[in-house]
Amino acid sequence: MSYIASRLSVVKPSASMAASQAAKALRAKGVDVIDLGLGEPDFPTPHHIVDAAHFAAKAGQTLYTAAAGTVEVREAIAGKFRRENGLDYTADDIVVANGAKQIIFNALMATLETGDEAILPAPYFVSYPEMVKLLGGTPIVVECPETTGFRLTPALLEKAITPRTKWLFLNMPGNPSGAVYSESDLKALGAVLAKHPQVLILSDEIYEHILFDGREFVSFAKACPELRDRTLIVNGVSKSYAMTGWRVGYAAGPTPLLKAMSTIQSQSCTSVCSIAQAATVAALNGPQDEVARFRQAFERRRDLVVDGIRKINGLTLSPPEGAFYVYIGCASLIGRKTPKGVVLEDDAAVSNYLLNEGRVASVPGVAYGLSPYFRISTATSEEVLAEAISRINAAVAQVE
Ligand SMILES: Cc1ncc(COP(=O)(O)O)c(C=O)c1O
Repeated sequence: MSYIASRLSVVKPSASMAASQAAKALRAKGVDVIDLGLGEPDFPTPHHIVDAAHFAAKAGQTLYTAAAGTVEVREAIAGKFRRENGLDYTADDIVVANGAKQIIFNALMATLETGDEAILPAPYFVSYPEMVKLLGGTPIVVECPETTGFRLTPALLEKAITPRTKWLFLNMPGNPSGAVYSESDLKALGAVLAKHPQVLILSDEIYEHILFDGREFVSFAKACPELRDRTLIVNGVSKSYAMTGWRVGYAAGPTPLLKAMSTIQSQSCTSVCSIAQAATVAALNGPQDEVARFRQAFERRRDLVVDGIRKINGLTLSPPEGAFYVYIGCASLIGRKTPKGVVLEDDAAVSNYLLNEGRVASVPGVAYGLSPYFRISTATSEEVLAEAISRINAAVAQVE
């Protein structure tokens, strides 16, 4: 008999972490593998942010903070929403947690009853369905095909809503597709949601600053102000400021939800690290030129990868509009044979083949709820990306 709780039986470990571990295992055997599995910026955290953390630690900001976060960090976040999103939230409308992931976990724990449904437009961030299941909910996966730009349409949304729908998840720019919703896209979804008052909206805007081709970001809350009392805007410093390890995420939303999330936070981990919160104040209130520099680097890399992948016979790729991933279509490889005679049955087999024969780690589309694709992260140098493309090209060319 296992002593592990039965709720764990439905939850899978993170697929992107698994891809990265498989790459590490091969490396440990001396194989030269390029790991494009995990998604985190490869830049160091800007100096002024690190300096603010040093200062905070030396100044004695080393105690527990309020569960929702320090007043300073929540005011800095409110300032960010005003400045960048045209949204009027006060410090009381905001909570911080250990990453956007914990924000999402707390929000689901605060709201899901057994059997409540959460609509997940696919391809989705790998953690969404696992968190929903872990907390007793039912993920309702809505496949959003490449022909709709991997975006949820009003018709698809309307069809997926039931009386049990508790949450709609949106993520823009999206991981893994890079899809972005325009203001009119969001308003059209909002018109459907207005008819279904039982549905809460979780808008995960963590890749907000990584947008390409001159696009402007529009927050869901800005596009649909009439839905504000059931909208949770999720964001964080991980991706914009190269601060994945600092573990600071935040949310703005309706008071009863935030209060419940703070209660969970206070009884599970008390607060976010006080020093990381001080660093976040510096990130949000300080100079933003590094954010712009990161964005430009990600756009150059996107261009390089789109150009390289599109030249490979057998792969397809719609240029992502933001974030730092590309979601590569591999339909024409399915059913074909590798040089060792293995039939590529699905995208997991393609990803596996690229790892073992191409020495490039990727994550198969099955992990994101939409196949046949595989995701590679572009959060690495142009030299490494160029080498990875040439390896993928060589491996694909050998498929019979
Ligand atoms: C869509 C999305 N949301 C949330 C996260 C997690 O962010 P954090 O580091 O703030 O927990 C990620 C990280 O990969 C992500 O891709």
